[in-house]
Amino acid sequence: MPSSQPIGVFDSGYGGLTVLKSIVEKLPGYDFIYLGDNARAPYGNRSFETVYQYTREAVEWFFSKGCPLVILACNTSSAKALRTIQQQDLAASATPNRVLGVIRPTTEIAGLLSKTGQVGILATQGTILSQSYVLEIKKFFPEIKVFQQACPLWVPLIENNEHQGAGADYFVKKYVDALLAQSAQIDTVLLGCTHYPLLLDKLRAYFPAHIQLVAQGEIVAESLLKYLKNHPEIDGRCSKHSDLSFYTTDDNIDFDRHSSYFYKSAIRSERVFL
Ligand code: DGL
Repeated sequence: MPSSQPIGVFDSGYGGLTVLKSIVEKLPGYDFIYLGDNARAPYGNRSFETVYQYTREAVEWFFSKGCPLVILACNTSSAKALRTIQQQDLAASATPNRVLGVIRPTTEIAGLLSKTGQVGILATQGTILSQSYVLEIKKFFPEIKVFQQACPLWVPLIENNEHQGAGADYFVKKYVDALLAQSAQIDTVLLGCTHYPLLLDKLRAYFPAHIQLVAQGEIVAESLLKYLKNHPEIDGRCSKHSDLSFYTTDDNIDFDRHSSYFYKSAIRSERVFL
């Protein structure tokens, strides 16, 4: 086998770095490559066809880099492209490589977290309209009631590093209030977009204290650990030298500077064209 067979971690931009951070903490021995499609982000308001096409191009790029496994650490890609890639593209090419998303691991445990049986989802417009969270939670916990709220302005605020400023409060409160107005019984809120952990301080301030806010990083990392244990045929193909490399489809200097908000340790990325 080639000496480097890293696990690929994909996001439309920076948000997936919040998931990568938890994955690397949980699986420190593995090799990883991260790709942010910054040149074409945000994905949140784009059509199904566009998100599918962009995500498929990214997956092909990861496979060309030797990745046996790719994690779509982007809810929008997981919601709009994952199923077609798994059921159509991977099946047609008969590749042994696999692609996983972040919605299933999160929905698998959503019902265990809520005592009232009412769960809120905050996500991009695309993820909300896809109904992926509602449908997946129903599969695992048919009795759970799900309330959704799209937050289309949060990703642009975060990508422009305006999320900690006073200007962000208006839009944070607006979407939080819109979710809370749907039911007074919600006790668990899933952050269904990898960017949103950066808003945690502000979200905590606008949600009542009894409501738990759930970010995905650790959930996805735990689920990946289990997946690799249950799939030795994939685990055996993943190289393990603790290597970590970063790629972006836009300016790499800009990516390195900006990524510190999301990853906390210095990043040196390379630019690629998909
Ligand atoms: N971070 C992505 C997600 O988890 C979306 C960001 C975007 O709109 O591109 O959905």
